Amino acid sequence: MSRTSERLNSLPQYVVAEIAAVKSRLLDQGVDVIDVAAGDADFAPPELAVETLREALSDSSLSRYSYQVGLRQYRDAIAAYMLRRFGVTVDPMSEVLPLIGSKEGLAHFVMAVVNPGEVVVIPDPGYPAYLGGARFADADIEMYPLKPEQHFLIELGTLPKERLSMTSLVFANYPNNPTAAVANRNYLNDLVRNCVDNRVVLAYDNPYCELTYDDYTAPSILEIDGAREVTVEFHSFSKSFGMTGWRLGWAVGNADLINALSRTKSYMDTGPFLAIQKTGAVVLDHSEACVEPVRRAFRERRDSLVAAMAESGFPIDKPQASMYAWVPLPAGVKSVAFAKSLLEKEGVAVLAGSALGSGGEGFFRIALTVGAERLREAARRICNELKCVEA
Ligand SMILES: Cc1ncc(COP(=O)(O)O)c(C=O)c1O
Repeated sequence: MSRTSERLNSLPQYVVAEIAAVKSRLLDQGVDVIDVAAGDADFAPPELAVETLREALSDSSLSRYSYQVGLRQYRDAIAAYMLRRFGVTVDPMSEVLPLIGSKEGLAHFVMAVVNPGEVVVIPDPGYPAYLGGARFADADIEMYPLKPEQHFLIELGTLPKERLSMTSLVFANYPNNPTAAVANRNYLNDLVRNCVDNRVVLAYDNPYCELTYDDYTAPSILEIDGAREVTVEFHSFSKSFGMTGWRLGWAVGNADLINALSRTKSYMDTGPFLAIQKTGAVVLDHSEACVEPVRRAFRERRDSLVAAMAESGFPIDKPQASMYAWVPLPAGVKSVAFAKSLLEKEGVAVLAGSALGSGGEGFFRIALTVGAERLREAARRICNELKCVEA
């Protein structure tokens, strides 16, 4: 029997799946494919994580249901990290919530705080969980185009007044996927002030806060005055520590909003595996030592990609943060057509900008998920294709 809901039918196909199918056909044909499409780097997890999990597996008390309360040691480690890293004090029980990766938290959050028909503002292009969560919550979706001339920032003040008055939630994500944009403190002050004044909840998605380069350090939104009134911030082990498959993250922020998310999740899941929460606690206690090699590798990869693109005649901006380069296409070139042709002709998988929303049309994304030498080779092949479409 085939039966799908209207909500599901209204969502686009999840993008990375299609690329995987073409890639596997090309690999079968013996093509040397370079995959820089998905945001899943080729790093091993920290040795400390592997050792801690191995030991935790033999503790049978960690094999029980975790429920939303989870492991006190994990909550305490999160609170200690927030204080050490951002100077933000949070109560580990009421202002923190363990997540099975930040994605589920982001999607479930909409169901926790938004009524059907209320407006949810979503960055376009943006991470698909925002759209999925909003659609399954029957929200009225306002796709906010991220434009280079606005530094890819969401300016709530540019929404029509009636629309803003119907808005109950906005997603913001800086350092940004896919544009690699960062937000300065003036912007964040304005964003929080706008949310407080208009009684809008702010879901601040911060999985790339540790992946920053040169002189830039990303803040927590909770450093901003007033943020605790309206904000929940989402964090992840995936990108900072090379632990995408471990499915661990956390939410932190306003106690009432955290409680709403926790109650919602109690109907959907029973929390992350306790042994993984224990591992997360130990990794967070050594966060700087664990993140440093990841940050160094991404910096080297970024420099290699930027240099290779320039050498091939297509200079790109140097991302200050994240693990992505967001590359403009020559005028009039459609991103899906470009990405398909690049994969078929040159064996390089990138993400078409429009795959993350129509606001991403005219761009494509390169993820720094392979080594510096492979990225140089990817850049050479990408530039071949850029020359073809430009001609
Ligand atoms: C902006 C953004 N938010 C959230 C996530 C989800 O991360 P996690 O692995 O913690 O679910 C990703 C993953 O790519 C992302 O790019």
